[in-house]
Amino acid sequence: MKIAIGSDHAGFELKEKVLKHLKTKDYDITDFGTDSLESCDYNDVAKEVAHAVARGEFDRGILMCGTGIGMSIQANKIPGIRAAHVQDMFSAEATRLHNDSNVLTMGGRILGEDLASAIAETWLTTDFSYQERHQRRVNKIEKL
Ligand code: RB5
Repeated sequence: MKIAIGSDHAGFELKEKVLKHLKTKDYDITDFGTDSLESCDYNDVAKEVAHAVARGEFDRGILMCGTGIGMSIQANKIPGIRAAHVQDMFSAEATRLHNDSNVLTMGGRILGEDLASAIAETWLTTDFSYQERHQRRVNKIEKL
């Protein structure tokens, strides 16, 4: 699975920790930055990662900022992106089963390393349910 990952300064430290965890697994990961704690705009990284996922260059994207919310709002502006802002294990699984989310966003000022890594792992390993009602609802999102 090809994964695009990115953060702003507020998500940088969590990105590095989640990256370290994901690198122990069989993922093909490209890091879109940022590479330091120097302040930058979450919008720019979200746009790059979301476009790359929407173009089909990556199977999934993972984005982190302070809350995960700015990344989610920005990524969801890109057609074809269904970004899910997740803070718990139940939602990590449910958004894959029900929404077929293709971008995961998390907050570096909210989540610790272990929970964020577990959320990412669950989100990456859960398939869309392909049940008719969920597919119908995803289609309605895509039509809008
Ligand atoms: C940066 O201070 C912060 O606003 C940003 O990381 C993010 O949380 C926005 O939603």
